[in-house]
Amino acid sequence: MAGGFGVSTGGGDFEAKITPLVIISCIMAASGGLMFGYDIGISGGVTSMPDFLKKFFPVVYQKQQNPGLDSNYCKYDNQGLQLFTSSLYLAALMATFVASYSTKMLGRKMTMLIAGIFFCVGTVFNAAAHNLAMLIIGRILLGCGVGFANQAIPLFLSEVAPTRIRGALNILFQLNITIGILVANLINYGTSKLTDGTGWRISLGLAGVPAFMLTVGSLIVVDTPNSLIQRGQLEAGKAVLKRIRGIDNVDPEYLEIVEASRVAAEVKNPFRNLLKRRNQPSLIIGIMMQVFQQFTGINAIMFYAPVLFQTLGFKSDASLYSAVITGLVNVLSTVVSIVIVDKAGRRMLLLEAGVQMFLSQMGVAVVMGLKVKDTTNTLGHGLGILVVILICSFVASFAWSWGPLGWLIPSETFALEARSAGQSIAVFTNMLFTFIIAQAFLSMLCKMKSGIFFFFSAWVLVMTLFTVFLIPETKNVPIEEMNDRVWKKHWFWKRFMDEWDMEAPKGHA
Ligand code: BGC
Repeated sequence: MAGGFGVSTGGGDFEAKITPLVIISCIMAASGGLMFGYDIGISGGVTSMPDFLKKFFPVVYQKQQNPGLDSNYCKYDNQGLQLFTSSLYLAALMATFVASYSTKMLGRKMTMLIAGIFFCVGTVFNAAAHNLAMLIIGRILLGCGVGFANQAIPLFLSEVAPTRIRGALNILFQLNITIGILVANLINYGTSKLTDGTGWRISLGLAGVPAFMLTVGSLIVVDTPNSLIQRGQLEAGKAVLKRIRGIDNVDPEYLEIVEASRVAAEVKNPFRNLLKRRNQPSLIIGIMMQVFQQFTGINAIMFYAPVLFQTLGFKSDASLYSAVITGLVNVLSTVVSIVIVDKAGRRMLLLEAGVQMFLSQMGVAVVMGLKVKDTTNTLGHGLGILVVILICSFVASFAWSWGPLGWLIPSETFALEARSAGQSIAVFTNMLFTFIIAQAFLSMLCKMKSGIFFFFSAWVLVMTLFTVFLIPETKNVPIEEMNDRVWKKHWFWKRFMDEWDMEAPKGHA
């Protein structure tokens, strides 16, 4: 049996130690986040590299070489260029549905392995690309990897983690996303200095490192007890539960998982089941969390930070530099979230961040509106720094709220019977809206100019009101007890739960 440190808590939590196995499993699984983050961060820098543009997007290259030709806001408005970034998310959203069956039938571990393999092959295509088709095929394969990884990893983490640190362990995934983005920004910074035209190839090729880590990691980890039990491997599930919890008597938790699996097994059509009244609250929240997460506008910054900073008048080098700073703020603020999410709770983080994101974005909109016009840019050094600070403040508040919680809350609020399908709808929605932002942002910037930041801040206002009234607190609630302890007690959502008592078998009501 694995040794452990840490003790159990009361309050409905099951007895569990924080065993090395839990920690290693989570680190391994979270390396998938590294891969996702690297893909997010790498495209912005690559698409501002002259050699890359010259080879694949000569029209944009021409515009870049003749700065007087276009409005400050429109230099990079090119559908093909946006497709390079966004094709990954389009592929990911389609892959999610297959991934939902694979997490259910093959388990979390196997789904992570499939993701790792997609990542490896996609990286080879990208790094070796000598035409646009290879480039896009590579991005599509990476997208399939993202669809599988983002489906399996948050589920894996939430199921393996002891309740009292579930939030923190789950956010490891997000932490790795942010580290991936930062590393990508740093690598772009380095490779953009190469003069032999290989910079973009190295940037895209280094994605092979996290891809390999995820592939190997998923061979080493054990599958979750919930997944094993759900697939009928009761003894194996119990044995794994003992190992990951570091104790001998796991019966209370084991029985609860067995019961949840029994209910889950009665589900014939998982997606139709999701529409049942009792699953609607978690479904609505799962979907809205993703829509809102993307409409904070975070990816306008994550994908296009170097381009955005160039729009603001920074030189190519200075803009990559600023992107590195926002990347660092993103990582550090995610750590803040890990430390406080299980103490302060989910709602407090979302509400505080709502206010901070709103003020920061309004600030950016006003400064840009006054100073950056179509053909003139009078931002100057001082105000330029102010914009970078405001963007950092926005990124920081996103990183301790909607960033991690967008993944955490859906992974912990669905009942087991709806968890795989629910998670896949959440990932699907996330990818769909990420795709929309990736595909539309540069055109929106060109049309709406600085007003785009007013647009995002209006969304932040809406999501903060949604949080006030409709997002329940889920900290310290065991994952299979959400119905009783969260939904049935919520002022609004409780009316969706009556049918649970009538339909669900005894012991689970
Ligand atoms: C989001 C990504 C975003 C990243 C930024 C993630 O939670 O899903 O779309 O780029 O956070 O750190």
